[in-house]
Amino acid sequence: MKETILLFGGNSFLAKAFNEKYGELYTIENVYRNDKTQEFNFDFENDNIESITDKLKSRYNAILFFQGMNPSLGAKDITAGHFIKMLKINLVTPALLIKNLVSQLNKGSLILFVSSVAKKKGSYDPAYASAKAGLAGLMHSLSNVYSEFRFNIISLGLIENSPVFNNMTPNFRKKHADRMFNNSFIKADDVITAVAELITNKSISRTDIEIDGGYM
Ligand SMILES: NC(=O)c1ccc[n+]([C@@H]2O[C@H](COP(=O)([O-])OP(=O)(O)OC[C@H]3O[C@@H](n4cnc5c(N)ncnc54)[C@H](OP(=O)(O)O)[C@@H]3O)[C@@H](O)[C@H]2O)c1
Repeated sequence: MKETILLFGGNSFLAKAFNEKYGELYTIENVYRNDKTQEFNFDFENDNIESITDKLKSRYNAILFFQGMNPSLGAKDITAGHFIKMLKINLVTPALLIKNLVSQLNKGSLILFVSSVAKKKGSYDPAYASAKAGLAGLMHSLSNVYSEFRFNIISLGLIENSPVFNNMTPNFRKKHADRMFNNSFIKADDVITAVAELITNKSISRTDIEIDGGYM
């Protein structure tokens, strides 16, 4: 029988790549923010946790948190609302979802958070960098309590052709490329291949894997 993967952020660039490559291998339950054509919808900012967890009935081998809010407000324009929204989408709601879903996870399941190179270099949007850095504390805290599961993080450099990449000026993209191996951007396929390895490889737990071309 196929393993079942629960994937939040079903419409994200990474989710599309993951579904395309691994949709045959796994049963993937995608959760979208607001797509009326789909079975599962959930807004990390506004919806009650039970509005989605009451609908999710399967047993899972992994939860992938691919949802995310891209950097959008600089330090001088910062607002409480923006900062809180960023933390809610990246940290608060994932923590609450996990609390409600642990009883449906098989032993050894992967819970994967997606962080960013911003956690070490900063971002023009402090809320984004703070939320991504905060994932490490979340991973370790939940690992202490739910020791039968494998919490992991992947921290990504700029992914070629992703929405955040497409919205950048060539100059800004070059700033990223100049600091990565071979002056290349991160390939979505390299990211999702690592995700598949993390689902399978039961020796990898409680780690933060940097897929960022050695960004320095
Ligand atoms: N792309 C990169 O270069 C890069 C680099 C470092 C880290 N990351 C991280 O990697 C993850 C995936 O990146 P990506 O480029 O594949 O993302 P993406 O294509 O920009 O998609 C982000 C997804 O998050 C969903 N989302 C936003 N707000 C939400 C909310 N309130 N509730 C539920 N879902 C919400 C969006 O839903 P809609 O489709 O409805 O808008 C979208 O599907 C994100 O966490 C991102 O921060 C990406």
